[in-house]
Parts: sequence; C-alpha cells; structure tokens
Amino acid sequence: MNAFLVPPEIQFGENSLEYLSALEGEKAVLVTGGSSMKKFGFLDRAEELLQGAGMETMIIDGVEPNPSVKTVYAGRDDMLDFKPDWVIAIGGGSALDAAKIMWVFYEHPELKFEDIIEVASIPELRNKAKFIAVPSTSGTASEITAFSVITDTERKIKYPIVSPEIIPDAAVVDPEIPATMPPHITANTGMDVMAHAVESITSTNSSDYSAPLALKAIELVFNYLPRAFADGDDMEAREKMHNASTLAGMAFSNSSLGIVHSLAHKIGGEFHVTHGLANAILLPHVIEYNYEAAEEQFKTVEEYMGIDSLADEVRKLSNELDIKPKFQDIDWLDYSDEDFEEALARMSQNALEDPCTLTNPKKPDVEDMKEIYKKAYYGV
Ligand SMILES: [Fe+2]
Repeated sequence: MNAFLVPPEIQFGENSLEYLSALEGEKAVLVTGGSSMKKFGFLDRAEELLQGAGMETMIIDGVEPNPSVKTVYAGRDDMLDFKPDWVIAIGGGSALDAAKIMWVFYEHPELKFEDIIEVASIPELRNKAKFIAVPSTSGTASEITAFSVITDTERKIKYPIVSPEIIPDAAVVDPEIPATMPPHITANTGMDVMAHAVESITSTNSSDYSAPLALKAIELVFNYLPRAFADGDDMEAREKMHNASTLAGMAFSNSSLGIVHSLAHKIGGEFHVTHGLANAILLPHVIEYNYEAAEEQFKTVEEYMGIDSLADEVRKLSNELDIKPKFQDIDWLDYSDEDFEEALARMSQNALEDPCTLTNPKKPDVEDMKEIYKKAYYGV
C-alpha cells in the first residue's frame, strides 16, 4: 500500500501572494527569517493583505539558518499568547521548517521536542490553526514536504522531523519573491532542485505518481536555471524555476532521496558547505556511481532531454553557473586537505547511516562513500 501526499492547494504564478487576502479568520501569525522579507516589502505586503481580510496580525521574525529547538519553543510561546487561527511562514527553508514545528507545539503544548523525533509521531494538527507556506527560495520545497529540519544546538545534532501532519494546507508559489535572490544563491538552490529531481526519479521508492513530476522539474531546471542566474529579472525564468522547485518537492517528499543528500548533509555539517553547492558538486559523481543500478531511469531522463550523458550535462550546467567542480577549489571555505582527510572516515560512516541512503538505487558501503567524497574533493 502506498500513498501520494501533497498540500491540498498550491497557488502559483505572479500575484499569488494575493491569496492571503481571501483567508477567513481572526488572527494570523507571520513567521519569517532574517531581514530580507522585510527589506523587499513582502512582509509588509503579506500583513496588509491579511489585515485587509479583517485579521489581526503578529510577526515572529529572526528565525536563524539551521533553526534551533530554542527558537521553536520561543515561537510556540508567542503563538500560545496570541492564539492565531492561521500560521503563515514566509521566507527560506529555515523559516518554513521552524514555523512548522512552532505550529506543532502551539497545537500540542504538552509535547516536548523528544516526543516528535520519531517518524510520524506528531499527533493530529489543525485543531487551532491551519498552515500556509510562502517560500522565498526555489530550492528546499519545504512548502510542499512532510519534512522539517531542526537543530539541537546543545547536542549539535540536526534532526529531520517527518510527518504527513506537517504538510502545509496551502503553498503560495509566487515568483516575485525568489526574484530577489542574488545569482550565487539562485545557482546553488537551483542545483538543489536538480538533485531533488534526479534523486527522486532514481529512488527505490520512485513511483508512477512521483516520476513524471521529477522529469518535468529536470527539464525546467536545464532550460531556465541559466536564464534565472544570468538575469534575475527574467520573470519567466524565475517562475519556471519556482515551479520546478515545487514539482521536485512533490516528487521527493513522496519518494525520498539518495546519497547525494546523505553525502551533502555530512560534509555540510563538518565544513559548512552550503547545501545546494554540496549537492551540485556531488551530483555528477553520484550519477556515475548509481548509473548501472538505475540505468532505465537515467536513460529515460537522457532520452526525454535529448542528451547523451546526464552527468556531463550536469557538469556543464554547474560550469555555466560558476559553480566550482570540486570541494578543494572553494576558496572562501576555511578547511585544508588535512582537515578533509581527518574527517573523511567519519563523514563517510555518518553518510552511510543518513536516512536518504535507504532509498539510493545502489547499496553503498563505507569505502564507496569515501571514494565519492575523494572524487568530489580532489576532482577526477
Ligand atoms: Fe536538498
């Protein structure tokens, strides 16, 4: 028995933020990250639309990258005081992830973080509020998924929280919001979308429902990411990339991922390589490693795109986006070859144990993981 779960409503295209003006209720809380949603006017606009619908509003801002348990509890307390009937997350993946878990604890203040770590352990939500996600990047797809990543800063562990309960009630995929992303973030988050789509279609849990969405996302990224990178004001490209992110999210939220993500999570944890960048560097190596095990799926992608080699085309795309081909070349990161060698065995073992490894088409061992890391670090 299988299920395919996505939000009941996806509002997309220019001006889809206006959707907020049609909500009915008394109070809405807006949860956001640093200052960018405020700076570019989207926070004020969202507040205006909600107030225009007759709602009282409150803002919870300052959600940090890699949001902590502490941040989540503070948001819960604010929500318990304010008693919203809508929780609206607007911002990057971190703001959306944090808002989801604030909402869980607002609905169930008796719960502690430890109670929700186990997969699907979150009790029924929506007794107090419904949840809307408005993403500002075209990448993580938290607006679609049943996932949230919260960091226990004391134990220095990132916990993936997984439950169908935290799939938003509506996703608002308005391309004007990510249009403010600078080129390097457009490039990195766009390659995260590519990794989601490729890993979804080759996942051992890929299905007739998820695969077509992943295929379409791959096509959109190849065709529109270079344009969105070269000209951030190209609204057609921005819209297509925002849709690609959401489509890839619908696919991977249901199929899960593979070892590009396992390896990226662990090298990101060790050396603070940003997620999309780590994926971009690892992806061609993992395609080559997995190729025979998922040959039919890779051939489907290559035939659909009219290309000879997906790995080579991914390399060309990264090059066009000024993404370095190996970790060793990222000069703004503060680590040496010795640091990499010291961390290699640890990262490889941890990557093997990452939940994303379970659905990789080929079963790796720790030596395989080391080999892929080395290729991605030193180049081949
Ligand atoms: Fe990702």
